Amino acid sequence: MKGKKIVLGITGGIAAYKSAEIASRLKKSGADVRVVMTRHATEFISPRTFQEITKNPVAVEMFADVVNFDESHISLANFADVILIAPATANFLAKMAHGIADDLLTTTILATPAQVIVSPAMNTVMLENPATQDNLKILKSRGIKIIEPATGKLACGTVGKGRLPEPAEICAYIEKFFDDDKNLNLRGKKILVTAGGTVEPIDPVRYIGNRSSGKMGFELAAASRRHGADVILISAKDLPVIDGVQFVKVESAEEMRVAVLSEYDTADAVIMSAAVSDYRVKNFSAQKIKKDADTLTLELVKNPDILKELGRLKKSQVLIGFAAETENLLEYARKKLDEKNLDMIVANDVTAEGAGFSVDTNIASLIYRGGTVENFPKMSKRDLAEKIVERLAKIFQSGE
Ligand code: PMT
Repeated sequence: MKGKKIVLGITGGIAAYKSAEIASRLKKSGADVRVVMTRHATEFISPRTFQEITKNPVAVEMFADVVNFDESHISLANFADVILIAPATANFLAKMAHGIADDLLTTTILATPAQVIVSPAMNTVMLENPATQDNLKILKSRGIKIIEPATGKLACGTVGKGRLPEPAEICAYIEKFFDDDKNLNLRGKKILVTAGGTVEPIDPVRYIGNRSSGKMGFELAAASRRHGADVILISAKDLPVIDGVQFVKVESAEEMRVAVLSEYDTADAVIMSAAVSDYRVKNFSAQKIKKDADTLTLELVKNPDILKELGRLKKSQVLIGFAAETENLLEYARKKLDEKNLDMIVANDVTAEGAGFSVDTNIASLIYRGGTVENFPKMSKRDLAEKIVERLAKIFQSGE
């Protein structure tokens, strides 16, 4: 972990004494460790201990005069590659989950772009309390990593889940995090993601559309960003903006095609999760069509297949497509993988419960160019996006 910058946050629980060994191990492994303590933590262990171990000043008070310590919460927040909170009390987790920033540590966490990892430690009843469980769920959903508490004898004399894992285990977790990060990071990669169902106008009022909400694509853009990529999200749907992602709004298939092609030459990968309308009306009516007749015939013409065109123009870009099927899932998806010259296709049966359009979950099989298939059970679109982006990072790695 040589050169890694770690902010070790210590909150007020009896397990705080173990943090000295955590700081010591991190320091010995070559990391630059800065300790921030809550005021309650100083009731359990002295800041001086950490100052001696890390050879850095220890910060506690938000507004204290900290001699030889020229960093505010913002610079600590920006300094960190990782912020590790060990131990994290129930009270501290609650503050984090609700964005409370009333001391240096909570403020630093709120201001950091770094990965935050928490190692909760408390008695079993507090851990199992629905309030704590809900707070952990909120933190997890925001991408904060949680080190599972260990089971054993607790400070209160009972035996159960809630112990701070041994310092060696916590440090191994941090080391693994840095390893995975090195292997799975997409820094310097430009990734185009498409999302949502395109809209093909019939007249100024009506259009042909489909059920795609854009959720899958937005999660893919967010996951790519979390892995450090430069992301352009080209979408036919508006969902809440994603920090650090360039957003391009389009409506029709043709607009999406133009937007994708204009960035394609310099892109490293494209993930096409958009449901692109296969047809558009041949003659757009500039005026609202009157409903005088009992029947109305619209002539449709085929839209360009954007992904197929990308497959034809492909140089070194990695291309990931989706296959939205209602039958013969793997067979049809494989055909699309070949026809569109893809590196991977995400096959989803859009008729399966909890999969496909609009819902927050999906069930997918990833099919790779070599023919390997990876099947995933039902999971949140966020988790599936994470898996897809991790696989993309591995494809880059194997090609380098
Ligand atoms: O947006 P959500 O509500 O979250 O729903 C997610 C989803 C169901 C839309 C998503 O998981 C999905 O399956 N997206 C692909 C939809 C689709 O158009 O599939 P397809 O099998 O018809 O197309 C195959 C591939 O070619 C897709 O990558 C598609 O983007 C692309 N395509 C299709 C037609 C076309 N004219 N141009 C294309 O580029």
